[in-house]
Amino acid sequence: MYSFSSLLTLAVALPALVAAELSGKVGPTTSHATKAAIKTCDITKYGAVADGKTDISTALNSAFTACKAGGVVVIPTGNYAMSQWVKLANGNNWALQLDGIITRTGTDAGNMLMIEHSNNFEMFSSTGKGAIQGNGYIFHKQGSISGPRLLRVWDVTNWSVHDISLVDSPAFHFSIDTCTNGEVYNMAIRGGNEGGLDGIDVWSNNIWIHDVMVTNKDECVTVKSPSKNILVENVHCNWSGGCGMGSFGTDTAVSNITYRNIYTWSSNQMFMLKSNGGSGSVSNVVLENFIGHGNAYSLTLDEAWTSMKTIAGNGVQLSNFQISNWTGTEANGKARGPVKVACAAKAPCHDISITDFSMWTESGTSQFYSCENAYGSGFCLKSGTSYAAYAATTQWVSKAPVGYTAPTMAADLKTAFGTTQSIPIPTMPASFFPGVLPITKLAGSK
Ligand SMILES: *[C@@H]1O[C@H](CO)[C@@H](O)[C@H](O)[C@H]1NC(C)=O
Ligand SMILES: *[C@@H]1O[C@H](CO)[C@@H](O)[C@H](O)[C@H]1NC(C)=O
Ligand SMILES: *[C@@H]1O[C@H](CO)[C@@H](O)[C@H](O)[C@H]1NC(C)=O
Ligand SMILES: *[C@@H]1O[C@H](CO)[C@@H](O)[C@H](O)[C@H]1NC(C)=O
Repeated sequence: MYSFSSLLTLAVALPALVAAELSGKVGPTTSHATKAAIKTCDITKYGAVADGKTDISTALNSAFTACKAGGVVVIPTGNYAMSQWVKLANGNNWALQLDGIITRTGTDAGNMLMIEHSNNFEMFSSTGKGAIQGNGYIFHKQGSISGPRLLRVWDVTNWSVHDISLVDSPAFHFSIDTCTNGEVYNMAIRGGNEGGLDGIDVWSNNIWIHDVMVTNKDECVTVKSPSKNILVENVHCNWSGGCGMGSFGTDTAVSNITYRNIYTWSSNQMFMLKSNGGSGSVSNVVLENFIGHGNAYSLTLDEAWTSMKTIAGNGVQLSNFQISNWTGTEANGKARGPVKVACAAKAPCHDISITDFSMWTESGTSQFYSCENAYGSGFCLKSGTSYAAYAATTQWVSKAPVGYTAPTMAADLKTAFGTTQSIPIPTMPASFFPGVLPITKLAGSK
């Protein structure tokens, strides 16, 4: 017979629920409790000092060496400094418990913390208060983004990262590079208000990213190539660049991507796909339940994206996009309408479906929808299967569509953090999408 508490342990040990959009289980194959029962390696026993000054890299490397074949490396509550970057490679059946705060003190480029070539890995905070503070403003106020990225996972299988905050990275915050069966959740990412400070970038296979808040002025959660079976849900782009895909170049290979419950406030866009020339394809994409307020662009598929150089090739072939249930308002629908589907002339997109899409402008009394080389149904998309190229067409409306109003989140950031002052570590928000609680309870919550 199982006691109630051992049942609980069992439940925790099971891999996360598999959503239909994923191709199989995600997350570590054994719980951190199981790993801790084998061994724990507390970095303060390996020379780390929580004085906010002493570099912890040597201690962290030593603790990892002792626990990398099965165990939990623990960074207990306290303030730590890191001046040399740490690469934790070839670990198996291990976890990294970050309950303390690691503050960047070194200035090299690269990745402050990199996890690579590992299997059955979990990085988490047991309290929800663990964080990496990048103090990127020290670079940004000098007009530089040449410092490190905060966290990168590369070639890791069966893993998760959760309940930690990544704050003020000098460059990107979190890159997920060529990983499999990963889960990222209950994360607060808060960076400076400028480009080049991406929140989460993922190019991987079978990854579930959910319950995430991103503040910055570049990518919120973005899928890059190659990727397949990525599910992104319950995301608060809390003053950001917004979510998207790309930018794409040669041999793009992206399929089976779902974004659901995406709330975007004061961002460049709600969703933008970016390419300019190139080759390959993006197929089977679902973009559903989006709410936007105060964004420049809303839905934009732009295959002539002028901020990148044209790449050789006929263009990336887009097909089978199901876009539904978008509500809210855009900043200025006369300048930038809520729908722009501009596909490549030599690779017109097809089977693009836009339904139940109701957005209206915050200024002025008109807005437009525009389509170019795009086939499917909804607004100005052309029907038929000729898939011949055609010039941009626009549809103007001067009346608000029915049902466009959408809730706002009380916790919307009111003033950007800028780039010249230190950015405080946030407390984990209770919700990441209006009316929706996190799929997994926040660490440290009752
Ligand atoms: C990852 O986990 C799955 C079970 O979910 C397992 O079948 C697979 O062998 C694991 N991968 C590795 C590299 O151990
Ligand atoms: C993508 O999903 C479709 C069903 O929607 C499935 O048939 C196909 O195998 C999936 N492709 C990949 C690469 O998993
Ligand atoms: C549409 O999205 C809203 C959230 O904006 C959600 O409450 C509603 O259930 C969704 N409708 C459908 C049909 O999924
Ligand atoms: C949005 O940012 C504000 C200011 O940092 C913060 O108070 C709030 O908790 C954030 N909201 C969410 C849902 O994370």
